[in-house]
Amino acid sequence: MDAATNLKYLVSPGGSLKGRLRVPGDKSISHRSIMLSAIAEGTTRIRGFLEGADSLATLAAFREMGVEIDGPEGGELTVRGVGMQGLRQPERPLDMGNSGTAMRLLAGLLAGQRFPATLVGDESLSRRPMRRVTAPLTEMGAEILTSGEGTAPLRLQPVSRLAGIDYRLPVASAQVKSCLMLAGLYAEGRTCVNEPAPTRDHTERMLTAFGYDVSRSGPRVCLEGGGSLKACALEIPADISSAAFFMVGASIARDSDVLLESVGINPTRVGVINILRDMGASIELLDKRMAGGEPVADIRVRSARLRGIRIPVDQVPLAIDEFPALFIAAACADGETLLTGAEELRVKESDRIQVMADGLEQLGIEAEPRPDGIRIRGGELGSTEGADAIHAHSDHRIAMSFAIAGLRARGPVEVQDCANVDTSFPGFASLARQAGLHLEGEAA
Ligand code: S3P
Repeated sequence: MDAATNLKYLVSPGGSLKGRLRVPGDKSISHRSIMLSAIAEGTTRIRGFLEGADSLATLAAFREMGVEIDGPEGGELTVRGVGMQGLRQPERPLDMGNSGTAMRLLAGLLAGQRFPATLVGDESLSRRPMRRVTAPLTEMGAEILTSGEGTAPLRLQPVSRLAGIDYRLPVASAQVKSCLMLAGLYAEGRTCVNEPAPTRDHTERMLTAFGYDVSRSGPRVCLEGGGSLKACALEIPADISSAAFFMVGASIARDSDVLLESVGINPTRVGVINILRDMGASIELLDKRMAGGEPVADIRVRSARLRGIRIPVDQVPLAIDEFPALFIAAACADGETLLTGAEELRVKESDRIQVMADGLEQLGIEAEPRPDGIRIRGGELGSTEGADAIHAHSDHRIAMSFAIAGLRARGPVEVQDCANVDTSFPGFASLARQAGLHLEGEAA
């Protein structure tokens, strides 16, 4: 049994969520903070870095490539940038663990280096589609070998030059957009990416913070290759994707009232707030401010009676990581919730449509998976007592979603294969307990 299969959550039913909570730093921004500070000129200080396995994999990769990094300690890091051409050839394959963001963004950043590199990942990451990045990178002149199925390992060979590209994304993906922008830094001429729908724009914002010119006009973002990045100070907000579990938990549990501190509310990430509000949730954004180029607020969430909705398709990319938690909200809502246009959920850390549908069915909730979404009829959540535990399929967000479901379940809920919660939310179990969830973790 590997590390990812050896932790179970045992949740006793009931409880309320209360208090001021600070969830860990934003995962997407943490990855980017390492990548950009590493290739910048000068020393960057980072605060609020997520010390989870995913972003630590990115950090370790840059150490392998000769970047000196102090920390992390209490979320603080000092990165001594080596400049655009200062990375060194790694001595071994770079292990991206469970992280799609690390692998896809690094593929872009490494495509234009003067040395070869190989990117590998765990079982789940090794199943995820990589042609979405290798195909456009190849058009730019990169040389990348994948498995026959277009999956990792990715073997990158040095090439004499990359050329800028004008690329229309076939799927709305911030990872693909960011991959191409990072490759574009090393390409001759202009690289433009056209998005079918807005996706998270942390790469654009952070490049600007590092003094790199990025132009945006509507769905099109462009940059010129060959510039340089200047070190800066970065403050990373708390991750709205982690806060989402407490937003849903406080909404569905009686007598709940939580304040989630300093959460990033970038407009490209707030689908979870918009959708929950449409469902009737009580969510207030307090003390809105800017931190490190990103909008931030304290988020107050109180119990509310939720109703099922048709989730607007334009919210899908803005809430793409929050659907497992939102499905729990839908299971506790009056009436039916319908999600469409979300086929991407099938190629995340697990097939999140099927895995969530299976777990909800185990709890007695009618959930009909569809190729591009799901239909969920709200009802009373049962229990796994005397039955099989719910299987998280090594997917952090599935594990945390079913843990939160315990707040409204009729009996105990057991979730197995939860160790990967550490990829995005180290300390989830203790923070959730502190807030009022009756959760125990147990080595299986
Ligand atoms: C991410 C983009 C999204 C998201 C992932 C993080 C990023 O993936 O699901 O967790 O940091 O750019 P896609 O680009 O595949 O939608």
